[in-house]
Amino acid sequence: MRQPIRIAVTGAAGHIGYNLLFRIASGDMLGYRQPVILQLLEIPASLQALKGVCMELDDCAFPLLAGTLFTDVPEEAFAGADIVIMVGARPRTKGMERNDLLNVNGEIFKTQGIALDRAASPRAKVVVVGNPANTNALIAASHARRLDPKNYTSMMRLDHNRALSRIAAHAGRPVTSVRKAIAWGNHSSAQFPDLYHAVVDGINANTFIHDPKWVEREFIPGVQNRGTEILEARGASSVASAANAAVCHVRDWLLGTPENDWVSMGILTDGRYGIPEGVIYGFPVQCSKGSYAVVENLEITPFMRERMDSSYRELLWERDQVRHLMG
Ligand code: NAD
Ligand code: LMR
Repeated sequence: MRQPIRIAVTGAAGHIGYNLLFRIASGDMLGYRQPVILQLLEIPASLQALKGVCMELDDCAFPLLAGTLFTDVPEEAFAGADIVIMVGARPRTKGMERNDLLNVNGEIFKTQGIALDRAASPRAKVVVVGNPANTNALIAASHARRLDPKNYTSMMRLDHNRALSRIAAHAGRPVTSVRKAIAWGNHSSAQFPDLYHAVVDGINANTFIHDPKWVEREFIPGVQNRGTEILEARGASSVASAANAAVCHVRDWLLGTPENDWVSMGILTDGRYGIPEGVIYGFPVQCSKGSYAVVENLEITPFMRERMDSSYRELLWERDQVRHLMG
């Protein structure tokens, strides 16, 4: 039997938490032979609800669930964690942009960033889901001393999956025919969803679809604004698709991306693709054995450059708003 992997999840009694924990415990994230221990964090007011979620986890008798703990003490939840999924944060409501949440959520990622760095495994891999995810991840990463800041990522996978699904629908092909979409930049309406490097059945997606008006008027704004569209339709922000994206993000990071494909992850910038260092920005990456590498040498046209830079400028603005929270 393999050693269990310790997975800390914050905001575990929330909506995404409730959709995520059972997927992790069933083996969807790390494979059907890998035992896991869940270390769950909530605020005191939600501990009772979290206790109920843990009772339900028990009642599933998941063969791979080797232990569960729940707490309102960040250091206890992060102790020895190999993977940290930071969901705990307030969601936006109608009429808000995600970065309107910086004031209410930013502080959480300072406090928890400090605790995480003290308590988690030094090799821990962190994904931030709570919005605004890129800048919250930057706040947490800025407190990394023992841990490697490169292991702090933000979730761009929901945008990536949204792009795949839209390309497939417009091309009239199954989603399995589509590879290599990219969600560049911020997880916000200023991201740049890129189908220009994607392929459908091995053919460039833009050539395959051959519909520039659709790309510019529907595909790009459609992916950029999908979160808002869901919020308006459901009266609440996305949940199951977000939990699924977190499962995909961690799975591919640990187990590897498929041959001849890539995924989008928000990672610390280092000047690649002309994006200056110091923000967390969505890039195409290939993963293998728990490491990721940015896909190099993609051609960037002036049209793409403008959109990629605009997303960077938004992240710079967000970073300026949270300077006081950074280590
Ligand atoms: P929710 O309100 O249902 O759950 C959030 C949970 O976090 C609550 O149970 C709350 O008690 C808990 N929480 C709040 N502060 C905490 C703290 N300091 N420590 C631990 N737990 C804390 O919200 P949700 O629908 O689960 O969404 C969670 C976050 O995920 C939101 O910020 C939302 O905007 C974001 N989100 C991001 C993406 C993405 O693609 N990155 C997608 C969907 C949602
Ligand atoms: C999403 O993209 O669905 C999430 O970030 C939730 C939101 O606020 O839009």
